Amino acid sequence: MAAAVELDGVNVTFGDFVAVRDANLTIEAGEFFSFLGPSGCGKTTLLRAI
Ligand SMILES: Nc1ncnc2c1ncn2[C@@H]1O[C@H](COP(=O)(O)OP(=O)(O)OP(=O)(O)O)[C@@H](O)[C@H]1O
Ligand SMILES: [Mg+2]
Repeated sequence: MAAAVELDGVNVTFGDFVAVRDANLTIEAGEFFSFLGPSGCGKTTLLRAI
């Protein structure tokens, strides 16, 4: 079965600024998943992209 969410080399940029670089992850259906990292590392940006 396909993953519920799959990111393969995702970048998010604001102009020249790279907020997320080469994000790769797989989340299966029913899986609990969280983003953990320091302020400004791109958690919210990545969630909004998804
Ligand atoms: N609309 C935007 N325009 C330009 N830069 C942005 C924009 N949104 C976010 N950024 C920048 O992208 C980077 C990631 O921001 P983001 O808000 O995703 O971080 P975060 O991990 O959610 O931080 P926090 O833990 O403080 O919520 C930061 O350097 C932020 O300043
Ligand atoms: Mg945030």
